[in-house]
Amino acid sequence: MRILSLAPLAGPGLELLRSLGDVEIDAWNDHVPVKLHSADELTARLGGVTALVVEADYIPDVVFENASLRLLGVARGDPNNVDVPAATKHGVAVIRTPGRNAGGVADLALGFMYGLLRNIVAADDDVRAGRFVVDGKLAQQRYLGRELSSCVVGIVGFGAIGRLVAERLRALGARALVFDPFVSDDDVRATGAEPATLDYLMSHSDIVSVHAPLVPETRGLLGADEFARVKPGALFVNTARYGIAQEEPLLDALRDGRIAGAAFDHFEHEFLAPDHPLVAMPNVILTPHIGGTTVETIENHTMQIATGFHDARAGRVPRGIVNPDVLPVELP
Ligand SMILES: NC(=O)c1ccc[n+]([C@@H]2O[C@H](COP(=O)([O-])OP(=O)(O)OC[C@H]3O[C@@H](n4cnc5c(N)ncnc54)[C@H](O)[C@@H]3O)[C@@H](O)[C@H]2O)c1
Repeated sequence: MRILSLAPLAGPGLELLRSLGDVEIDAWNDHVPVKLHSADELTARLGGVTALVVEADYIPDVVFENASLRLLGVARGDPNNVDVPAATKHGVAVIRTPGRNAGGVADLALGFMYGLLRNIVAADDDVRAGRFVVDGKLAQQRYLGRELSSCVVGIVGFGAIGRLVAERLRALGARALVFDPFVSDDDVRATGAEPATLDYLMSHSDIVSVHAPLVPETRGLLGADEFARVKPGALFVNTARYGIAQEEPLLDALRDGRIAGAAFDHFEHEFLAPDHPLVAMPNVILTPHIGGTTVETIENHTMQIATGFHDARAGRVPRGIVNPDVLPVELP
């Protein structure tokens, strides 16, 4: 069968995919600037294609009218770029890839923690600018760090990413507190972490790390009350969506030093204006949504999709199937 991928593919999963048929890879992000297909362009490319893999392209209703398409792999945890009801109507199995980037995001969260604990970004900036003495003080007087192994880290949200953060912290000897209303205390304890209420976590953590989804219940979950409770000099790390913390109370806590430093991988509308107050704060690390941007993320989604396509062909229910009602699918 013909397989077209508009997502990057790599690793052992690619060989597995090739064992199913001819694979053409034309990843959206191999183009400069990036290439996203219109519905007409997609329809024109799908003649004779049985399986499509997408990551960033939007797949609307009309694309499924192509009679040959039977499998759609979505290199995302949430296939919100796909009209799933339309796929179901046309008998196309949609397979998503939960947790594909969990290791990458967990690593970035740990990187943020180390970056803040040791002032890595600010110190790097000093060296580049030739600031070896500031206000008469040497770097060794300005940058007294802390070691992660002596910290208590509060994890808000204990899903794929939160669990890997806890696993890494355990290996490093740090203590982890977990707040997740949908995970049992026993489940948390089994990982070596300690279940906590949000209040307890906020007031006992040296570092608060956010790994919950942005849904109506979590938008603004961390506000003035929560930031009033933090241990003086705590650090705040957010590799999840920006809107989980209320901006003004967080900025206030950073300004008055209650929170000594913070790091973010996401901003409202994916963008931070150059005159945003965070930009001027030297105790803040800002990255442009790169948490999941790793080689391993690509290898993981490739393996998940290849395994899913094999399962569909063998009549098994693929892990990550979004619309099981379409099973079994007839494949060439
Ligand atoms: N920076 C990046 O590049 C990047 C990449 C992937 C995901 N993310 C973000 O990380 C978030 C977590 O990803 P994941 O793969 O671990 O998701 P997941 O679905 O595996 O886990 C989310 C966890 O949050 C918990 N949760 C839900 N509501 C909560 C609440 N009110 N308080 C505390 N916990 C709550 C859930 O029970 C679940 O255990 C995503 O929603 C996404 O916003 C960021």
